[in-house]
Amino acid sequence: MKEYFTLAEIDEVAQVIRSLTKHQPKVGLILGSGLGDLANSIEDPDFIPYPNLPYWPTSTVHGHSGQLVIGKLEGQTVITMQGRAHYYEGYSMAEVTLPVRVMQRLGVEILIVTNAAGAINSEYVPGDVMFLSDHIAMIAMTGNNPLRGPNLDEFGPRFPDMSQAYDRVLLEKSKKIADKNNIKTFSGVYVSLSGPSFESPADLRFLRAIGADAVGMSTVPEVIIARHGGLRVLGISGISNKANLDGTTITTHDEVLEAGKVLVPRLTTIVRGLLSEM
Ligand code: HPA
Repeated sequence: MKEYFTLAEIDEVAQVIRSLTKHQPKVGLILGSGLGDLANSIEDPDFIPYPNLPYWPTSTVHGHSGQLVIGKLEGQTVITMQGRAHYYEGYSMAEVTLPVRVMQRLGVEILIVTNAAGAINSEYVPGDVMFLSDHIAMIAMTGNNPLRGPNLDEFGPRFPDMSQAYDRVLLEKSKKIADKNNIKTFSGVYVSLSGPSFESPADLRFLRAIGADAVGMSTVPEVIIARHGGLRVLGISGISNKANLDGTTITTHDEVLEAGKVLVPRLTTIVRGLLSEM
């Protein structure tokens, strides 16, 4: 396991990708649990399985296939992660976020990051879409910040700002596109935990009290790295289940994957609409 990557190592990965595709992506897309099918509509695709890339973390989780899909979507050149690695799989924060660093070196300027999340906000139901207006970096706040270690000055400063982690222009545009297509959306706060155990009812009441609307096990590390490097970020949660605040139901990974089926067409519409307006 590597705790840090040097710029030379990040560039080594970028160089391998350049040698395997003719495309020069400007938009990065990370697809969460059960949402990988969004990549199927990419045109003129080059596929790069994760094991073909040095240092690259591969996901061991069911519902995450592991490859890059690079090609055209609505006239934009996109690099898509069909599946991502998580901290709970045993990777370091540097490994979990390496793909974002590599995207930055490839020339990506906008990152669209999606995830499956549990609803803490009682208004949300499975299948709903929540745009991230902000996050609570629970996993990073307590010492596991992906920027821990030597600062890579080429990307950004030692103490980067997180006051506007999620780009307001991208968010407003996406919301309008969703409205136009009769897709119900919310804007809310996502809290990232390490997982892999789901939350206890008391955990969830705590998370509700501190202002979280949705909970998941990814996204925030990637967003911190993206913002450090100056990318504009759009974050989208597909609500896969109601979090179990009163202890009367149980949450399962199958439930998360099942919700993905209704969420993929909704997210596809939103992402395609946004790309077509860029
Ligand atoms: N909790 C944490 N992570 C999740 C959940 C949840 O309920 N649903 C999908 N990812």
